[in-house]
This record gives sequence, structure tokens and C-alpha cells, in this order.
Amino acid sequence: MTARLIRIRRKEKEGRAQNYLKLKIRSRHMLGKTITMIICMLNILFNLATALSDSNSLSPDFKFEHHDNRELIHVLKQVAERCPDITRVYQLAEKSILGWPLSVIEISDKPGIHEPLEPEFKYVGNMHGNEVLGRELLLALANYLCWQYRKGNEEIQTLVNNTRIHILPSMNPDGWQISTDQKGGKDWLIGRSNANGVDLNRDFPDLNEVLYSEEQLPLHQTHHYFLGSQMIDHKLQPETRAVMMWILNNPFVLSANLHGGALVANYPYDESPSGKTQEYTATPDDQTFKHLAHAYASAHKTMSGKQHINCGGDDFTHKGGITNGAAWYSVAGGMQDFNYLGSNDFEITLELGCNKYPSEERLPKEWDINSKALLNFMWQAHIGIKGTVRETGTGRPLQNAVIKVHNITDGKDFPINHDVTSVRGGEYWRLLTPGTYRVTAMKAGFQPQSQEVTVTNIPHQEAQRVDFTLAKEPVYTESENSLEENNKPDIPNLSLSRLLAYMRSQERS
Ligand SMILES: *[C@@H]1O[C@H](CO)[C@@H](O)[C@H](O)[C@H]1NC(C)=O
Ligand SMILES: *[C@@H]1O[C@H](CO)[C@@H](O)[C@H](O)[C@H]1NC(C)=O
Ligand SMILES: *[C@@H]1O[C@H](CO)[C@@H](O)[C@H](O)[C@H]1NC(C)=O
Repeated sequence: MTARLIRIRRKEKEGRAQNYLKLKIRSRHMLGKTITMIICMLNILFNLATALSDSNSLSPDFKFEHHDNRELIHVLKQVAERCPDITRVYQLAEKSILGWPLSVIEISDKPGIHEPLEPEFKYVGNMHGNEVLGRELLLALANYLCWQYRKGNEEIQTLVNNTRIHILPSMNPDGWQISTDQKGGKDWLIGRSNANGVDLNRDFPDLNEVLYSEEQLPLHQTHHYFLGSQMIDHKLQPETRAVMMWILNNPFVLSANLHGGALVANYPYDESPSGKTQEYTATPDDQTFKHLAHAYASAHKTMSGKQHINCGGDDFTHKGGITNGAAWYSVAGGMQDFNYLGSNDFEITLELGCNKYPSEERLPKEWDINSKALLNFMWQAHIGIKGTVRETGTGRPLQNAVIKVHNITDGKDFPINHDVTSVRGGEYWRLLTPGTYRVTAMKAGFQPQSQEVTVTNIPHQEAQRVDFTLAKEPVYTESENSLEENNKPDIPNLSLSRLLAYMRSQERS
């Protein structure tokens, strides 16, 4: 090369940064080539800058506005048309009282298919009809994931290729309409409930009550407290029933429920055992839930910031932007606790700001404040460990095996009294914070197997793989055989059969 770049120097002069580019040109006729080279470099820099500023961007045709129930469906369809290979729009089993579908968009590299070991994630918005920011943010998120995937954003492609994401922008379309029609969304309560006047976040079966009464027993049940419809003591709303079936029929690992009226990431339990209005009520997974809430709050631009944001007296910014639900105020029949106690799913509740129904002009700013947090939280579906439970020899996947975890970090030994279970393909996912654990897979009729693992949680990578193969019990009687058949979450006396299975495994070791 005859034209040589001698130096590129960045100088601070009179407080302003200026770039100096000195070129030594050997001969006149090389000037053209030099200019081409400079243009080329500028081009690269320009593209880089555009790519960086674009990493937050939605498709140019996306409008920030309060989409009504018809427009909401239209936005989802548009996304699905633009990204047919990675999306699927579907509806939950029941409609709202006024007949609106509960529309979900699934975003994943194999839409409609549960891929082995791929964690399933969900976001639910607008459960309270007058808390509308989550609804609009989730529509933007669906657009964003599709648009960025198509543009080759590597982080988004990796996330979508390795996670099955389900987004329900509105769980309460009727409440949205009521809130918007009356007082234009300005009322603190109007439209919160569904068209029957029921608060959906108080309408789920109260599994905490079951837990708090069983907890007194020495060997109480430690997962899947929902044992069937006989446990429902009131007539459920169709919206609740639809979401409940969705929760019970899909192997969700992680989720969040988007609300408004405060600014905080709220984690279980929501209900206190004593009935006290405010009482910190930790789950056995308190460490993990704090981490999950923090994953949202810390990536949000103001939730855990230095600036105090006081929504009617509740200021959590100085507490890192997170709170235990019952420590804030106790709620019975909430969706968050139902997820944790009724399924393998870990759910938190996000309060996205003081204003439940912000103006349309405010929405782009809210997207800017929340978009990184929405992404960072989805990545948390990949913390901890995952793997398969299979039968020794045959390799047959074992469903409904129980995964027990003891925290043995620093030579201690604490059981985490909340188990997850393996699903249809024998797969399980167990969200965990960094530490050392003894993990045991067990199933009635099989010998339990334990492994020690150290979890580090490398960001943006899939969970560490820990597989189990369980050998059949050598001596095997008729009654034990039937016990295995009974070891399913849908039978009435589940608690008793699990207790027996556990006691038998203890006798062996
Ligand atoms: C995601 O999957 C698609 C389709 O299999 C593939 O073309 C793309 O390269 C993958 N992206 C990343 C970042 O792995
Ligand atoms: C296990 O214990 C370590 C050390 O106390 C802690 O940092 C970690 O969060 C615990 N893990 C869980 C899942 O509670
Ligand atoms: C269910 O378990 C209880 C003890 O918890 C027992 O008294 C009852 O007989 C069991 N019912 C059935 C149908 O096995």
C-alpha cells in the first residue's frame, strides 16, 4: 500500500473531542484510492453506529398507541406474517366474558413444537384491565423479537433459537374496554376486574392455604399442590380458567405477570400464612426469586435507580427495586403463587410504574426504559440446571420423576423444600443461583440417583446439563407397581403416595 495511515489521534481540545486523521500520500494518482479507502472506513463506522442505535429498534411501521382489542389481534397477526418461521398465534381454551379471544403469540425457532430441553417462558399482560402499559410493551416486544431476528441480531437469534417464548398481551380484554370507555383509563379502579366484576388476581385456587396446613407435617408435599377441580371452592372466571389450564398443560419454567400502579419487581409468596397484611413470606427458593426479581429491576432504567420514585407512598427504588409480595401486602388467590405451587413454573409480578394508564406520548419512553429488562428477564429461563431422567438400560424417558435439591455450598447442607418434576420427554429444568448442590432424581419403583453439581450461570448460555438414569427397583411387588401408576399430579391422594414413595427411598439409603 502506497498510501499509509500514519496515525489516528484523538485529541481533547477546548472540551471538545476532535478526530485527526493524518494521511501521507506518496503520489498524486493514489489520491483516488485513498479517498475510496476513507469512504469505505466511514461507511463501516456509520453502519456500526446505526447497528448499535438500532439494537433497541422496532419495525418502522410499529406505532406506539393504545391498541384496542381488535388492533391487538391485528398487531400479532402482522408480526406472524412478517416472521412466519418463528411465530405462531394461538388462543387460550376460553374467551373473555364479552367474547374476546385470549390471544397468544409464540416466538421460537420451531413454533408449535416443544423441543427437547428447550425451556418454555411466558409473559402475561393486562390482567388488570386498567393497567395497560404491560399490554403495549408486550406488543412492542413481539414486534421487536421478530424484527431483530430478521435483521440478524445475534443475541435475539440465540434467545429465540433456544427458548420457547409465549406472550399473552392481554388477559383481561373486557376490563381494558371498560377502563378505556369510562373515564378514558383515568380511574384507579374502574376496569381493573373482568366484566363480572371479579379481580382475576384473586380468583386462582388458593394453594398457599394447602401448603400452610400441610407444612406442619414432618414430610409434607413439596411441589404440585393443585390436585384437581375438587380443590376449587368458588366458580372460576373464564379468563382465570383459561390461564390456569395453560399453566397446567405446558412445561413453563419461568414467567412474569405485568401490572402497574407501583414500580417494583414482586416475588412470591404473595400470601402470608398468618393472615397478617404485611409479613415477609419466603419461599424455599427465596434466593432464586430475589435473583429473578433483581434481573428485571437492575436492567430497568429507573426501577432500582438512585432517583426516588414514590407511587402513593410505596418507594422501592432504594431497596433495589424488588419486594417480597406478602411483605408489601398479602394477597390470596393470586396467579404468581399459583404458578409456583401448582406447576414447575417460577413467576414474578412486575409493577411497571405509578401511572396505570400512561399517555400514548409516554409509551416510546417506557419501551426504552423497559426493553433491556424484558430481555434480561427472559434469559433467566436458562439459569441453573436442566437435563433428562431416563430408565437405565432401555433409555425410556421417565415422566413425573421428582428432582430434589440440597444446597451444599461452603460445606453446609440445606434442603430446598420445593421440587420440580420431569415432564413428558423425561426433561426437567431447575432454576438455581450460583452455588454447589446435591441433586437427586427419584421416582417410585426406581432407585434414586444423586449428583453433585456446581452452578455458575454464565450469562446468555443454556443451563448446565445434568442427566439421570434410574435403575428399576430389584424387588418389585404388585402393590409397588400400582404406586408408580399413582405417582401422577392428577390423582386425588397424591400427597399420600408421594409421602410413601419418599419414605421408601429414605429406608433404602
Ligand atoms: C438461529 O437458527 C436459525 C435457523 O436454524 C439459523 O439460521 C441461525 O443462524 C441461528 N442463529 C444463531 C445466532 O444461532
Ligand atoms: C445456596 O447457598 C449459597 C451460599 O449461601 C447461596 O449463595 C445460594 O444463593 C444458595 N442457592 C439457593 C438456590 O438458594
Ligand atoms: C387419602 O388420604 C387420607 C390420609 O391423608 C386417607 O385417610 C384416605 O383414606 C385416602 N383416600 C383414598 C381414596 O385413598
